[in-house]
Amino acid sequence: MRRIRCKWLVLLMTLCVLLPSVMTRIGRMNRQKDPLTKARCDLICVQVVPEDRSRCRSDCYTGVQKPGTCPAADSAGWAAACVAACDKDSQCDGTKRCCRHECGASCQEPSDLTTVPGLPGLPIMGEIQEKRRSAVLTWSDGVGDLARAVPGKVLYIVEEQHHLGPKYEEERLENWNFVLRSNKTRVSIRDLLKPGRWYRFRVAAVSAEGTRGYSAPSAPFTPRRPPRPPLQPRKLRVVPVDGDNQNGTMTIRLMWEEPRSDLPVLRYKVFWSRRLRGVQSQLDSVVVNHQTVAKTQTYYDIKDLEPNSMYFLQVQTISQYGLTKLRSEKAAIFFNTTNVNEHIAKKKKPHALKKKSNKKHKKIKGLKLNRIIWQSNHIMANLTWTPSRARENGTPRRYYVRWQKEACTNKEIKEPQQFTATTKNATIEIDDLEYNCSYRVSINKSPITKSQRKFDTELVFKVPDCKTFQRKVSGPNTVNCQS
Ligand SMILES: *[C@@H]1O[C@H](CO)[C@@H](O)[C@H](O)[C@H]1NC(C)=O
Ligand SMILES: *[C@@H]1O[C@H](CO)[C@@H](O)[C@H](O)[C@H]1NC(C)=O
Ligand SMILES: *[C@@H]1O[C@H](CO)[C@@H](O)[C@H](O)[C@H]1NC(C)=O
Ligand SMILES: *[C@@H]1O[C@H](CO)[C@@H](O)[C@H](O)[C@H]1NC(C)=O
Ligand SMILES: *[C@@H]1O[C@H](CO)[C@@H](O)[C@H](O)[C@H]1NC(C)=O
Ligand SMILES: *[C@@H]1O[C@H](CO)[C@@H](O)[C@H](O)[C@H]1NC(C)=O
Repeated sequence: MRRIRCKWLVLLMTLCVLLPSVMTRIGRMNRQKDPLTKARCDLICVQVVPEDRSRCRSDCYTGVQKPGTCPAADSAGWAAACVAACDKDSQCDGTKRCCRHECGASCQEPSDLTTVPGLPGLPIMGEIQEKRRSAVLTWSDGVGDLARAVPGKVLYIVEEQHHLGPKYEEERLENWNFVLRSNKTRVSIRDLLKPGRWYRFRVAAVSAEGTRGYSAPSAPFTPRRPPRPPLQPRKLRVVPVDGDNQNGTMTIRLMWEEPRSDLPVLRYKVFWSRRLRGVQSQLDSVVVNHQTVAKTQTYYDIKDLEPNSMYFLQVQTISQYGLTKLRSEKAAIFFNTTNVNEHIAKKKKPHALKKKSNKKHKKIKGLKLNRIIWQSNHIMANLTWTPSRARENGTPRRYYVRWQKEACTNKEIKEPQQFTATTKNATIEIDDLEYNCSYRVSINKSPITKSQRKFDTELVFKVPDCKTFQRKVSGPNTVNCQS
């Protein structure tokens, strides 16, 4: 009981400092989610003068009313649960409407979408034809009774779903994906269809009045050309891990990158063998070791290598198509363990490291202030940045963060206190901030030294004055600006 009340009392206020960028992100998300509403709003807003168009669109996304009648509520079992799952049509996917019932509301498919007048007809997909590397899709525009002959422009939204494999199996089809939008009833799609997959298509006709939703799916279709075996792994290379082990052996890390192929990678196979120089140079007496590696792991640590030896290292991509395994050529390199210790020494030498890292040191990108949070008289700032890639040897990055008060209105800062933190994630929450003060935050990929002046990235942000928070926070736990 107490805990529940506390939850209500902990007033979490989020002040969207970057409101415009937040808005556009939400806008984009909606559009991705529902191409039907986007098409309709574009058709509605095309008449509006360009300056007002984006405003018109965002009003339309949130306020649009969808056609059709909600089904009668009597039979709905969920009504008993009294859920209020929506309060606007725009919160419901596709053609679904927000339907109100005696007690609650939920997204439901209208009962009369196929007959309600004033909408473009439901299209019917034709057969899919393959022409060289393209597939040609056609559909009828669903002309029928007079009610469906609507004036104005119509846009068609095409979607696809597919599954991998030589045989069509409807239950394995994945989710529907947006493919394209067109005002024609015949389109040619190139390079989208990959060999070795079965596809189905569907299309919806949208006018400014709305849509009846998607057609029945097309007949399944697969490209004529069979999938090619996978390609060999790319950028095969060796990173020394440990020089001389106690027992005199060595460990190296073999790394590679996923090749781009028709089929997804099932796994990799790594081979390694020691080359012994015989009397004649081709006389290689070798034992070949091999190991299977999961598709998500694009490296393998090879242990127990002899010093002063030449090794032949290979990696192969393996894919599966139906019951058949398809194998790539092997990517191969030689590695001479004589040089391992030199490699490691070079890596460990601080000077060498500095030079190297300065040259190809990539700056941290995308540092931004997500939001300022007010919580029970504490002010926090949440910052995020674009995660950098993992380091060469596969260990995850660490970020070194430093922040300090930069300036305050009505207050002089003599010796700003510096705070530091380390994080593995590309985000941090900075606590104990003060009203009316600005803060400088620096992010670095390597540890920050006391006298350091240059950082991989920096950002200055200002915490608004108390009055701003007072205006935004409402409820029982109001902001006290006196103290
Ligand atoms: C389709 O749109 C293009 C411009 O985007 C226009 O030129 C063309 O007339 C339209 N076609 C139809 C059938 O409306
Ligand atoms: C040699 O030492 C390494 C690391 O200490 C160990 O991983 C490896 O199994 C050892 N090899 C043998 C043959 O003992
Ligand atoms: C490995 O490299 C060293 C020095 O570069 C060379 O002397 C040696 O012959 C090489 N070993 C083999 C097996 O090629
Ligand atoms: C980093 O993120 C992971 C998962 O996304 C989470 O489990 C972990 O607690 C986070 N670490 C920190 C220091 O926030
Ligand atoms: C900051 O906000 C982002 C986005 O809301 C969130 O993913 C992240 O976990 C937050 N960071 C911390 C340290 O809480
Ligand atoms: C914060 O700044 C505003 C305007 O810049 C000023 O009116 C207000 O008195 C300041 N508050 C504090 C606590 O310094």
